[in-house]
Amino acid sequence: MNKRVPIVIANWKLNGGIDLLCTSVAAFIGKHFSAKIAICPPYLYLRDMLNFLQHSEIMIGTQNVSKYESGAYTGETSAQMIKEAGGSLCLIGHSERRQMFHENDPSCKIKVTRVLNSGLMPVLCVGENLQQREAGITNDVLFRQLHDALDGLDLGDKRIAVAYEPVWAIGTGKAATPEEAQLVHEYIRSELTVLFGKERAESIHILYGGSVNKNNAYELLSQTDIDGLLVGGASLDPEHFMQICLHA
Ligand code: G3P
Repeated sequence: MNKRVPIVIANWKLNGGIDLLCTSVAAFIGKHFSAKIAICPPYLYLRDMLNFLQHSEIMIGTQNVSKYESGAYTGETSAQMIKEAGGSLCLIGHSERRQMFHENDPSCKIKVTRVLNSGLMPVLCVGENLQQREAGITNDVLFRQLHDALDGLDLGDKRIAVAYEPVWAIGTGKAATPEEAQLVHEYIRSELTVLFGKERAESIHILYGGSVNKNNAYELLSQTDIDGLLVGGASLDPEHFMQICLHA
């Protein structure tokens, strides 16, 4: 079985502060993990976190990125700036951004391109909501999200990841079962094969997110096409997140 080295990403969302930053740094510094670990704090903490963790194995990422490069775009942060600050990856198209901040597939495509061109890894978030799941159109939703954001991209040797986050599982305590998630991940990989060819699709990490915790992480990761985890709530407790990372 081809197993990619797992990637576990913490998405702090609009949470945390200096206290969480300090306790996380204290917990993670000097530790060794079999998986690749990344933390996505709010932008403001990016630099501090990088300084503290520069000699550790932890990568730092952001929860969003601007679709613009530079100019009169108040409040925006560009991929190049994130790169210069020392970031390694950017989440793109998280469902909270799609729902609350008008993120859509075309803007995801621009962002994916900008992030790739800056030498960072885009993590494209996709997922259906409860209504779509109950209507049996999960694959249709994912097809559109994947193709609209990735069609025609020339990846070359650049790295990209996809995070499957069913909206109904986010923050609800109701994670997809490992079998449910595996079925969807398998579908996502089949579409990545259409987009990039089999060899490339096999190398792309597909992460699962949605009510991941230390009790379900291992079983989720043991599925063939689940190559990592995107963790929200449980990542705000450094000890809990550490348990997830150590078993990944
Ligand atoms: O990006 C991670 C996220 O949306 C999942 O959140 O709190 O359900 O782990 P949570």
